[in-house]
This record gives sequence, structure tokens and C-alpha cells, in this order.
Amino acid sequence: MLNVRKIVELKGKEKLVMVTAYDYPSARIAQDAGVDIILVGDSLGNTVLGYENTIPVTMDEMIIHTRAVRRGAEKTFIVGDMPFMSYQTGIEDALKNAGRFMKEAGTNAVKLEGGEEVAEIVHKLVQFGIPVMGHIGFTPQSVHEIGGYKVQGKDNASRERLLKGAKALEEAGAFAIVLEMVTDEVTKEITEMISIPTIGIGSGPHCDGQVLVWHDLLGMNPDFRPKFAKAYVNLYEICRNALEQYRDDVKGGGFPSAEHTFTAKR
Ligand code: KIV
Repeated sequence: MLNVRKIVELKGKEKLVMVTAYDYPSARIAQDAGVDIILVGDSLGNTVLGYENTIPVTMDEMIIHTRAVRRGAEKTFIVGDMPFMSYQTGIEDALKNAGRFMKEAGTNAVKLEGGEEVAEIVHKLVQFGIPVMGHIGFTPQSVHEIGGYKVQGKDNASRERLLKGAKALEEAGAFAIVLEMVTDEVTKEITEMISIPTIGIGSGPHCDGQVLVWHDLLGMNPDFRPKFAKAYVNLYEICRNALEQYRDDVKGGGFPSAEHTFTAKR
């Protein structure tokens, strides 16, 4: 299994592969496929729980799903995503909730959103032995404040904020930083500026690693196909076709057949 030291050492040598997972079977598949890091993202809210965004996600929901992921991927580095208002309310809450991820769900690290404004919290968590992955750029928990899903780093003020945020997180002791929907130019600048890996989502090829959301990677949501996400398969179509065949089989008497039926004969 990777650890934070090895993750940092891989910068510039080997790209990091991260994917989100939210349950036992997806974690098992991710581990068997050899991904480096599983993120139990608070994207759980949109992808699995059917919320409009990540804001309603609670710590209890995250813990249930993260425990299932740990059971499915015992040998993989797992990051638990701190949900909205589980850390913004102060260092005590941050310590308590990050501690829950480590103690109750067996994660190896936590992730939280924000740059300079969360540096002090990151520093405290790291001081108490909790590895932290940062997350800057488009930060979904601030979707209302940002005013929608907007690419970050397009103007000078935004570029400055991102550079300062990345530096502050590095200095606070974060072991990696997710860059979400950041322009290619600023991503390159940040990746070259800091000594810890950047992991990109919608931030181009210059990151030290990439992360994709499980449902985007597998084409599971026909209504949401972001430009930056490559769907490696259309699982929505495959699942729907299978279920339509099942429906037709049951209605038409084709299932169950003798092959799927128990008899008293030995
Ligand atoms: O919640 C999530 O899945 C994330 C990724 C988009 C990085 O934060």
C-alpha cells in the first residue's frame, strides 16, 4: 500500500491514479484494477444519494460509505472527503471529524476544500498525525458562492489566489493537492512551483496525477457528461439493456429456465 511519503516521492517520476468509490464492489474493482488512491468523495451526494450538489452530505453518510470502501479495498490508500461544515466551523470540529474517518472508517488520509483560508486547520490536523490532501480550483462545496461550475485561473486575481492557496497548503503540511477545473497554464505553474503532487480533475495533463469520479469514468449518468471526464464505457446503456432483457424474459416466460431452477432430482 502507498503511504504519504511514497506518494510525495512519486512526484515527477510516476503519475498517480486516483478514482472515487463509494461502496464495497466499486472499491474492490478499483483495487483489483491497481489504482493508487481511492477517494471516497463527497460527490457521493450527487452520484449515489441523488442530491443536487455535495452540500447536504453528512459525516454519518460519509462514514457508512467509507467503511464499505475500506472493506472492499483493504490494501489501497484511501482518502475520506470531509463534507461541508465538518471542518469549516473550527479546528475542534475538523479534528473530531477527521479523527472519525481514521478511527471509524480506517482511512489513510482526509481531503478538504480550500486554500489559504483552511491552511491553519490543515496544519493542526497534520500536527496531530492526520495526513491531509488539499483541494483548490473549483471547489464544489462553494458552488453557491462561486456561482456555478466555473473554470478557475482565467484572470490574474484568480491565478494569484490559486498560487497562494497551493503554497499555503504545501507549507501547512498537505501531502498532495487536487486541482479541479483549473486552466492548463496555472496548473503547470502550480505543479512546477510546489514539491508535493498535484492531482487534476479537469485541469489538463500537467498534473502529477489524475482523479475521475467513478460514475463519469464508467458513463453511468446519461444526463451528466462533463467535457473533462473521459467515459471509458457506457455502463448506463449496458445496464439498461440488461435490465430490459430481464424484463422481457420475465414477462415472456423466458426466465427462469430449467438451468436456473432447483428440482428434487439428484
Ligand atoms: O468529491 C469528489 O469526488 C471530489 C473529486 C472531484 C476530486 O472531490
